Amino acid sequence: MNISLTLRQRQTQTRTFLCSILFVLLFVLSGCPASVEPVKEPLYSLPNGFPDINFPKDNPVTAEKIELGRKLFYDPILSSDKSIACASCHKQELAFTDGKIVSRGVKGELGSRNSPTIVNTGYAEHLFWDGRASTIEEQAFAAATNPAEMRAVESVIDVRLQKDSAYSIEFPRAFGNGTQPTLRLAMKAIATFVRTVLSGSSRYDEFIHGATSALNESEIRGRDLFFSYRTQCGDCHSGYNFTDNQFHSTGLFTHYFDQGRYNFTINKSDVGKFKTPSLRNIALTAPYEHDGHLPTLEAVIEHYNEGGKDFINKDSRIRPLNLTETEKKDLIAFLNTLTDNSLLNNPRFAKKP
Ligand code: HEC
Ligand code: HEC
Repeated sequence: MNISLTLRQRQTQTRTFLCSILFVLLFVLSGCPASVEPVKEPLYSLPNGFPDINFPKDNPVTAEKIELGRKLFYDPILSSDKSIACASCHKQELAFTDGKIVSRGVKGELGSRNSPTIVNTGYAEHLFWDGRASTIEEQAFAAATNPAEMRAVESVIDVRLQKDSAYSIEFPRAFGNGTQPTLRLAMKAIATFVRTVLSGSSRYDEFIHGATSALNESEIRGRDLFFSYRTQCGDCHSGYNFTDNQFHSTGLFTHYFDQGRYNFTINKSDVGKFKTPSLRNIALTAPYEHDGHLPTLEAVIEHYNEGGKDFINKDSRIRPLNLTETEKKDLIAFLNTLTDNSLLNNPRFAKKP
């Protein structure tokens, strides 16, 4: 075997050697600062089995923005007479709903719809019961300026925020030096906070992730029934957030006073259709349906058991189910396992002390 190396081989060897040294140097240099930096807490925590949140390109997530959004969510400064905040209708202890049939805004103004939760709306493709908003920024701005909700006038709120000494510091911190506070930017911060309000740690989640004793027999029967062809509940209330993000009429009425999705699309086949609500924390979010007319889960189950009322756009899956009393109890027992108690006392979602 020839042990003398050719010139080319020697050159290659030298190059490889130099490269290795450079590589080690780079490794040491880049490794150093990381080892002295303190471990950062994640900005938000994803429940087991949930996909990551897509923060919009023009409104990326930062710790400062979440903090500002959280403060604004609880601050009545955004409503015309400073009497109402987002949190007035989206209360943490009620899984971010308000417990009323329909919400009341500034000066007790009666709205027409039941307050839905903000939990897990970071995943929603459409916002509001009729899906008329496609981003939380847009949706929050609509809530703030709605005469039946916060009745804010943009120019008035801009000035009010700019006069506030704390916000004059916190907006530039979240949006860059020299930024003036505005209602529009407030909505960007609030939307960022809302996207981090996630919930997926219920007994049901423990069960599907392996803790087979987390549910009792009745709850397991209820789960099987919920996902069965017999009821088809899990067809529409599907996936990790128990919604297909679609619009359906469940035949609540023979004549819909609120025409739902139709108001937005002006398509006759959309009359009476509303967004499938998530069923997470459903035990805490009574009363039910877009207009809050069903007071209890028992009433909701009765509605489905009867197959709804005759209505032209009613989904074909809504039909008499002939459930026994035990089956009804099992379904309700299952729905009660979807409560995530950690959501209710998570200090990251609460008003800043
Ligand atoms: C007066 C009560 C009230 C106030 C104040 C209020 N909301 Fe709402 N919110 C509602 C109601 C009612 C709906 C459903 C309205 C509809 O579908 O037309 C809703 C819908 C939403 C939704 C959509 C949920 C979904 O699944 O589609 C989000 C998110 C939300 N609100 C966040 C906010 C934020 C952020 C603020 C503050 C800027 C706010 N809300 C202020 C009552 C209120
Ligand atoms: C065709 C799709 C579909 C099927 C099947 C279906 N749902 Fe629904 N569900 C919806 C929609 C849409 C709403 C909201 C309707 C409205 O407000 O007008 C809703 C509302 C609810 C609510 C009230 C939620 C709230 O926040 O107010 C509960 C509870 C519920 N469904 C449970 C069930 C159960 C249990 C079954 C099976 C027996 C079932 N659903 C079958 C689509 C469906």
